[in-house]
Amino acid sequence: MSLLGDFRRVVELVKTQGWRYPVGIASLGVVNISDVLAPVFMALAVELTQAEFTGDPVNTPTPLALLGITPDTFTIITAVAVFLVLQVLANIARYPMLMQVAVPSHEITQLIRRRIANHLLAQSQSWYDKSRSGDIMSIATSDVQAVRMMLGPGVLIAADTLLLVSLVLLMLSILSWELTLITLIPVPFILLITNKLSHLEFDRFKDVQEDLADMTERARESYAGIRIIQGYAREVYDRRRFAGFSERHFGKNLRLARVRSFFEPTLDLMLGVSTALVVIFGGIGVAKGTMTLGTFVAFLFLIRYLSGPMIGLGWSVSLFQRGRASMHRIDELCETELEITNAPNAKTAAGPGGLKVQNLTFRYTADRVLEDGTVQKAPKHPVLRDISFEIPAGKTLGVFGPVGSGKSSLACVLTRLYDPPAGTVFLDGEDIRELTLESLREMVVLAPQETFLFSSTVARNIVMTRDDLIERPDQGQEEVVRVARLAHLHDEVEHFEDGYQTMLGERGVNLSGGQRQRLAIARAITADPKVLILDDCLSAVDTKTESAILQNLRTVLDGRTGLVISHRVRAVQDADEIIVIEDGQITQRGTHDELLAQNGYYARIAAEQSQAKGEAA
Ligand SMILES: Nc1ncnc2c1ncn2[C@@H]1O[C@H](COP(=O)(O)OP(=O)(O)OP(=O)(O)O)[C@@H](O)[C@H]1O
Ligand SMILES: [Mg+2]
Repeated sequence: MSLLGDFRRVVELVKTQGWRYPVGIASLGVVNISDVLAPVFMALAVELTQAEFTGDPVNTPTPLALLGITPDTFTIITAVAVFLVLQVLANIARYPMLMQVAVPSHEITQLIRRRIANHLLAQSQSWYDKSRSGDIMSIATSDVQAVRMMLGPGVLIAADTLLLVSLVLLMLSILSWELTLITLIPVPFILLITNKLSHLEFDRFKDVQEDLADMTERARESYAGIRIIQGYAREVYDRRRFAGFSERHFGKNLRLARVRSFFEPTLDLMLGVSTALVVIFGGIGVAKGTMTLGTFVAFLFLIRYLSGPMIGLGWSVSLFQRGRASMHRIDELCETELEITNAPNAKTAAGPGGLKVQNLTFRYTADRVLEDGTVQKAPKHPVLRDISFEIPAGKTLGVFGPVGSGKSSLACVLTRLYDPPAGTVFLDGEDIRELTLESLREMVVLAPQETFLFSSTVARNIVMTRDDLIERPDQGQEEVVRVARLAHLHDEVEHFEDGYQTMLGERGVNLSGGQRQRLAIARAITADPKVLILDDCLSAVDTKTESAILQNLRTVLDGRTGLVISHRVRAVQDADEIIVIEDGQITQRGTHDELLAQNGYYARIAAEQSQAKGEAA
């Protein structure tokens, strides 16, 4: 995006805050005016003192004299009084100046954060597959912060610079326009340098931010994989690896800092050149009598006022360029297309929950970034091929098959975590792509193979899908206990120190694999869906618990459509129909007895599993 375009964006953002920025900048004006008037009074004092000594009348072009005011004692006293009032005003004005810019800049950042959050919530699984959380984190924190610095201090410093420079130039030209022109000689150089350095700042800051994202990701990765790192005694390697990244980041920051450290002294040097020119030419003027001493003194004072704006110019350019670079990164994130959205005129799912899959072929299109940061290429071949089945409302289908055969992929496609091709998956006769995502996901709920625990209590982790229960904890508690019993989790939770109020997640206790799975089942049951998909939810529980849960699941699935995915024959044997998926294709289908009678994968595994059970007994 162009510089001008970005500038317009900033103005638009500022406009969302109504009158606050203008009020802030007007207060800044009051501060500046009173600052700039001070040397003029100083000039007046010099003139008066000089007149007192030499007896000459005051007839030099001081600003007051130009306004037709003769500086007798009375006007001087009045002027001093006005000056004092201005000083007081200026100091009062500093408060609104800061508040009317700083507060709205925080508010705009909040809007930006919300925009990012909304976008992230709507993004599809396949987008998350290919994204790195480090990138997202650093955009949501560090880049948002850079935009805030642009909209707060950046705007303030820029306005200050502009106002002060214009006021000083106005004053200077009132005092002597000839000398003012001489003062301006270095300006073209200043513009040239500013232009060059500000581009460098933009590029290098973007580079630093990208690198920061990378480093955040590496740090997250090491943290996520710390057990593996320590388990294999890879700390030294990891430390060295991280030191490498850190050094690279340091280098990039140094490159950025160099721009700034070059910027300010250069601008200050230009100002020095101006001052020298004024001393030379002004001095000659005073000597020749074409300029009064008072004007000369005022001139020098006013020029020194420009040193603040010179630093300010460097600063605001830097803040603006950084903010722009970050704004681009935020836009890039928020403008990535949402891959799975509601179709125009999408319908609300409301039927009894009959599911039909017809010639479904599905492939992953995006490479996947795994937990440990490695990238898994998307499989070349479809992971599901020509799958067809039907589950009438209220019936249960078992899905059975070896590791990696595509069972979980099927589960994801049924809830549109990944979109199936049009015309392949139907819920009560409607293509699920034509249903609203909200109603589809309310009706079809997936208890995933690997669940996620939020940093909250056990109870809240279970009822998270139900706003009504979260708002009414008393009713919620009853429901929590009921579903936890069904999922065979209740007894264990009772033994936790804080029972259902035990904290889970990052800051709390960690559940065992089997406990997590049962919590996932409890969570799914709480959602009370018409279609319940259980993806291998019992793989980590012992056989005794498994039978107990399977017994309970019969009650839960009563009146619901069920899809039970498992490696274990026991989990699927009671289903109305079972399909066997091998390498993405259905190779067998039928009831448990029918499948046992066929000489295939199902019968073979059933034999193995019953033998294993016999040995265990
Ligand atoms: N998001 C993804 N992106 C790319 N490939 C994927 C993705 N998810 C799964 N795969 C690949 O698709 C294939 C099928 O995986 P899937 O998880 O569906 O198998 P599964 O039958 O559920 O296996 P398991 O019994 O181990 O749970 C595998 O080769 C897997 O690597
Ligand atoms: Mg799976």
